[in-house]
Amino acid sequence: MTKSINLVTEVPGPKSRELEAMKNQYVPRAMSIHAPVYVERAEGALLEDVDGNTFIDLAGGVGVMNVGHSQPEIVEAIKEHVERFTHTDFTVVPYDSYVKLAERLAKILPGDTPKKVAFFNSGAEAVENAVKIAKAYTKKSGIITFENAFHGRTMMAMTLTSKVKPYKQGFGPFASNVYRIPYAYCYRCPLNLEYPSCDIKCADELKEAFLHTVAPEDTAAVIVEPVQGEGGFIVPPKEYLKRLQEIAHENDVLLIVDEVQTGFARTGYMFASEYSDIEPDIIVLAKSIAAGMPLSGVAGKAHVMDGPGDSGIGGTYVGNPVACTASLKVIDIIEREQLVDRSKELGKRAYDRFKAMQEKYDIIGDVRGLGSMVGIELVKDRQTKEPAAQETNRILKKAFEKGVISLKAGIYGNVIRVLSPLTITEEQLDEALDVIEEAIKEVLNEK
Ligand SMILES: Cc1ncc(COP(=O)(O)O)c(C=O)c1O
Repeated sequence: MTKSINLVTEVPGPKSRELEAMKNQYVPRAMSIHAPVYVERAEGALLEDVDGNTFIDLAGGVGVMNVGHSQPEIVEAIKEHVERFTHTDFTVVPYDSYVKLAERLAKILPGDTPKKVAFFNSGAEAVENAVKIAKAYTKKSGIITFENAFHGRTMMAMTLTSKVKPYKQGFGPFASNVYRIPYAYCYRCPLNLEYPSCDIKCADELKEAFLHTVAPEDTAAVIVEPVQGEGGFIVPPKEYLKRLQEIAHENDVLLIVDEVQTGFARTGYMFASEYSDIEPDIIVLAKSIAAGMPLSGVAGKAHVMDGPGDSGIGGTYVGNPVACTASLKVIDIIEREQLVDRSKELGKRAYDRFKAMQEKYDIIGDVRGLGSMVGIELVKDRQTKEPAAQETNRILKKAFEKGVISLKAGIYGNVIRVLSPLTITEEQLDEALDVIEEAIKEVLNEK
């Protein structure tokens, strides 16, 4: 088997260390770096740094590169577009890539209700706008969110987010009329029940919130991730979202599904809402929508999306023409290369491998995932489930030094997650998982 990892210097190498010193001097410390090797080029699931080291990328720019780095057709389409024009502001002088992308997405998003789509730049910006649209349509202001949720770092998105450190501490006061209920985190059930005998009682917490916390008459929407991402790759039971939506709709409240991390084939579905068999009222899209070009979107039932009036949503850069062109290519590639099926196959391969590791290493408390959104939760003790956060950091650092870039997640910072490009080869995935296993073994031996 030809190995993909190729380390020719220590990690990080001298050129990366020099750039890191410059970064430390001129960039605020909040922009802390996870893998301090400065990238020179990237292709497929491989990254080459400025010192000539090659890494396997299980982070994919945090779930952005589902179609792989530097996909040649996308690079071509971007180049061709940049030579024609880069910006006009869609609402000043429009362009075709925006409307073509809106049409394309409207046709492939879950459900039969006619859809409309608006584009923005980041996931957080799309979340802000999804909430504005829900408020304008319902003429109500309350928003219900979840424990372990992550929706971004701008004011409303940060308010909706659950993890206090580092995302919220010191940044208050937050947006008002936001209420939080537990999520279906089965490994650490908030109600101390077991699936399936629990009959997903946690979904009824929404009903309880309407009694104890905020009236449905004052609530515009519930916003939920179909699989929680930053919160720890938490996959709820299949029926959970449907039940939430039923309760929301019985109370004239909208369901916003944040598919920023789960969208574009990541979970073995084009959108994870399909797994839950629901048609959300509003869907938030970003990350893998445009292969690294800054683009996000809010899509939804047309009558809901028409809630805000003339110029109520928008912005100078929203729906950049080059990014929209890249996104059209992303969808072509996902369809042509059948990345939805590929996501299921690769996800199963990673899941099975992690399950085998779980047999050997007690530190792996839980293995979970949907499609290629796979993670392991590390614990000091399987009975108490005490999170093994420091060990998680050490494992990721060792894996990095051995040539694998992978990320953590979880409210306790004890989940290792796989978000590799879906174009990763089986050999590359196996090689990366070998490295993670080696790192786990080494950390366990250090104890
Ligand atoms: C589910 C979810 N929503 C929103 C965001 C925020 O997206 P962005 O970082 O592009 O603002 C993220 C980012 O990780 C996310 O995972």
